Amino acid sequence: MPQTSPTPGLFETIYTTRALRRFKPDPIPEEVLFQLFDAAIRAPSGQNVQDWRFVVITDPAVKREMQAWAEESWKRYQPQFAADPAAIDALPRTKRLSLRSVEHLSHHLAEVPAIILVCGLKGRHSTPGGSTFPAVQNLMLAARALGLGGSVFNLALRRDRLHEMLAIPENNEIYCLLPMGYPTDKQGPVRRKPVKDVVYLERFGAAWEFAAKQPENGWQDRWVARDTPLNGSATSP
Ligand SMILES: Cc1cc2nc3c(=O)[nH]c(=O)nc-3n(C[C@H](O)[C@H](O)[C@H](O)COP(=O)(O)O)c2cc1C
Repeated sequence: MPQTSPTPGLFETIYTTRALRRFKPDPIPEEVLFQLFDAAIRAPSGQNVQDWRFVVITDPAVKREMQAWAEESWKRYQPQFAADPAAIDALPRTKRLSLRSVEHLSHHLAEVPAIILVCGLKGRHSTPGGSTFPAVQNLMLAARALGLGGSVFNLALRRDRLHEMLAIPENNEIYCLLPMGYPTDKQGPVRRKPVKDVVYLERFGAAWEFAAKQPENGWQDRWVARDTPLNGSATSP
């Protein structure tokens, strides 16, 4: 029973929210942005401290500088493909699509309507990311439900420069960057290792028989229409 609708249900949203890295130039209306953050901050955090802070970056000059950092990171991260971009075409499909989209965003970051910087108080939590990334995932899911898309994209993360340029206090840690906009690539089923490979029963490494009998793709067919384009990727940074 594939369930697709203009406003996807919770499970369809979870099964189809991909990392998207190509966007239309259209700006994100403020009421849409507000809905995005109003959903993001419903997430849990340790002691409900909610010390996450978000900076919405739309300033072209700042985005241009961030793109320059992303271009440098791309060269460091994929020197072979930076020197010879055509070599990406020889890769297997999922790897090729994924790398092409990372390459694209690295060279077009300045055109993205908004880059969301996520930070929070340093040293406030014993598991700092644990009190931040639930809000990031809420934001990603809300984005998908609102017709937006994005991805964590830390290739443009220059902490020292961002602290300075955006007046981020020293007692805040920057966790990630999320370029966001109306995507030109489609959301679609995400490929993940099956449950049986990552969930054990009682002891680490001990098989869970029920999971072992389920389809390799899990139960995604319950939530994703079969004709949903599968241009997702299993491998990205
Ligand atoms: C902590 C974290 C860091 C990430 N850093 C980057 C990054 O620097 N560049 C990038 O293109 N994607 C980055 N991603 C996105 C992942 O590559 C992507 O979510 C993953 O490959 C799954 O993609 P899919 O949902 O489209 O299958 C990051 C994701 C997370 C959670």
